[in-house]
Amino acid sequence: MKTQTVGVLGKSGGQLGRMLAVPAALLNVDLVFLDVGEHTPAKQVFAPKHPDKAHINGAFSDPSKIRELASKVDVLTVEIEHVNAEILEKVESSLPLGVHPSPSTIRTIQDKFVQKQHLQSHGLPVSEFIEVESTVEAVQNAARKFGLPLMLKSRTLAYDGRGNYVLRSLDQADEALHTLKHRPLYAEKWVPFLGEIAVMVVRSTSGEVRSYPTVQTIHKDNICHLVFAPFRSRDPAVANRARCIAEAAVKTFKSAGIFGVEMFLLQDGASDEFVRVFLTVDDVA
Ligand SMILES: Nc1ncnc2c1ncn2[C@@H]1O[C@H](COP(=O)(O)OP(=O)(O)O)[C@@H](O)[C@H]1O
Ligand SMILES: [Mg+2]
Repeated sequence: MKTQTVGVLGKSGGQLGRMLAVPAALLNVDLVFLDVGEHTPAKQVFAPKHPDKAHINGAFSDPSKIRELASKVDVLTVEIEHVNAEILEKVESSLPLGVHPSPSTIRTIQDKFVQKQHLQSHGLPVSEFIEVESTVEAVQNAARKFGLPLMLKSRTLAYDGRGNYVLRSLDQADEALHTLKHRPLYAEKWVPFLGEIAVMVVRSTSGEVRSYPTVQTIHKDNICHLVFAPFRSRDPAVANRARCIAEAAVKTFKSAGIFGVEMFLLQDGASDEFVRVFLTVDDVA
């Protein structure tokens, strides 16, 4: 069996990369990690077979390190979407198997506002949202339009709730801009959700799409704290509907990879069970 080598642009010490290591070894896939540190979680569990396949110590956004990684592997993938899509576009053609997910998909997903526009244009259910300039007046106008509380979000470089600010009164606008470091913003109407669910969806290079069972996620301070798998509800159709929506969302990206699709469960006025599902796509791995 021919061994393929996959290069992984890692973040936060390669915790997700570490999860790839065991299944990759069983499939005879070699991994080379690029992240900061010599003994990060992923590097601890995947020993290079040859000095040519040594892991790389460097930032996943560093163009020269990305090129070095590309020179050692057949295919590049990412642990998190906040990578340098421009450099990935440049190295894509130098790799026998390319970059997955494709740099254009990464570009769409890494800007949450563009991601929402993309999903909406494909008819997927998303919460109401608008672009907001990084000024006090624009933030206050968004709050007047959508009401309070207002969910202000950084368009880029957001994860674990770090790009979110819940505006509860108009006079917090200045503090919100400061907290979100004056990055490009957008606002979402507050969603009074009953619960949060997520589906991991896999898309192959030939376009085949499959999903894992729906799970329920419990967040603490915007960070995923507990996962109940599988998701259980009185109406088993909800879990299937969530999978259909998640698969439909991933089919809009012409790209291979494993995508996490996060959704809000909303109570339908007509029933006391969760039957309407709102969706946001947040993460790609
Ligand atoms: N429009 C919204 N209304 C209410 N709560 C929200 C809204 N958007 C996000 N949240 C809450 O904030 C959490 C993090 O938001 P999310 O967009 O998933 O950011 P991240 O990319 O940091 O995970 C969500 O899991 C949810 O609990
Ligand atoms: Mg999220």
